[in-house]
Amino acid sequence: MANVRFENITVGYGGHMVLKDFSLEVESGQIVCLVGPSGCGKTTLVRALLGLNKPETGSITVGDRVLFDAKKRINIPAEKRNIGIVFQDYAVWPHMTVIENVSYPLKKQRRPKDEIHKRAMHALEQVRMTEYANHLPSQLSGGQQQRVAIARALVTDSDVVVMDEPITNLDAKLREEMLLEIRMIQKRLGATILYITHDQQSALQLCDKMAIMQPDGSLCQFGTDEDIILNPANRFVFEFIGVSNFIPVTGSNGKYFLDCGEKFPLPQELVPAGGNIEGKELGVRLNDVVFDNKSSLKATVTSRVFLGSEYNYFLKLGQKEIRVQQDMLAARLYGTPEAGKETGITFINPHFYDPKPPEKIVSADEGQKKKKFSLFGKGK
Ligand SMILES: Nc1ncnc2c1ncn2[C@@H]1O[C@H](COP(=O)(O)OP(=O)(O)OP(=O)(O)O)[C@@H](O)[C@H]1O
Ligand SMILES: [Mg+2]
Repeated sequence: MANVRFENITVGYGGHMVLKDFSLEVESGQIVCLVGPSGCGKTTLVRALLGLNKPETGSITVGDRVLFDAKKRINIPAEKRNIGIVFQDYAVWPHMTVIENVSYPLKKQRRPKDEIHKRAMHALEQVRMTEYANHLPSQLSGGQQQRVAIARALVTDSDVVVMDEPITNLDAKLREEMLLEIRMIQKRLGATILYITHDQQSALQLCDKMAIMQPDGSLCQFGTDEDIILNPANRFVFEFIGVSNFIPVTGSNGKYFLDCGEKFPLPQELVPAGGNIEGKELGVRLNDVVFDNKSSLKATVTSRVFLGSEYNYFLKLGQKEIRVQQDMLAARLYGTPEAGKETGITFINPHFYDPKPPEKIVSADEGQKKKKFSLFGKGK
């Protein structure tokens, strides 16, 4: 397995640039999850790596092999790139048995028959599917089919495996199982995986590092999940990863108020050192709102719901609705005030951002134009 390096690649379709000067490195033996909203250019990046579209600038390197370099005019053809791929709408071939599916890439490489069989069985062993070798995909569950797809991606000793939304079509429980499965296979094999998704939850479960793309196709943060959650680079990342409350801030010269219809002085310990926060919004994640009766911020509980392993609350702070998620430890430590009760609240790790500009209303026509494209070209 090898590292993957995208350096300053620019890719577009007929004059419309999707990725501009895009750089990213996936270290050998790591899973990097590339996360971003629909249409930001994730599949476009995958297609560039696979050799299915040609960037206008930059280079793509896997290990010490240059797959593409615009300046040096290097462009290794797709079939010689040695990259395993698993993706949503291109799972397994229905007319082939499991072992035929997994053997196919080796057959294309014209390997000897006994080597093909040995390697295909080994790949199936890695995903724990040997006993299904002679089954047809229709006799397998969705999760088992995806395991076969992973075995097929691994069978040629690919330098890197790319997974583009591989579990989107599975139900919630299977998705969970597959994420664990992918993680275990990856750890066992030390595989380098670039995992593409728009679902930040699966990314958090899976990744060594996360790369967050903005709607304009730029990379806005690359780091560990901890880093991204605790130190989001900007409001987009903060909002994209997790749900938050936002409260407008007024005031000046170090004296600030939370504007909740009525004004509440912002407790001094929450005012960030230096920097003017007038006109900004305080953003706080639902599980970073903590009950604290010593706090001067008094809210009223409007509802409390127990969800088995956590409590969810709606509070009123002045006219503003505040949502709270409380795990069982916090419930024991800080109590579980019921609806109608007043409680002090404070915020852990609040962030201050400029307010969002009003959303642009997209006409039905424009919405139509943003249709989906599949990995191998124009899609459904
Ligand atoms: N073959 C194509 N021809 C023209 N435009 C395309 C083509 N493929 C993609 N696009 C456009 O490029 C942009 C990025 O598309 P891409 O498929 O890379 O997004 P994505 O991040 O993978 O989205 P999703 O999460 O929905 O899969 C979109 O605006 C899309 O409309
Ligand atoms: Mg895509």
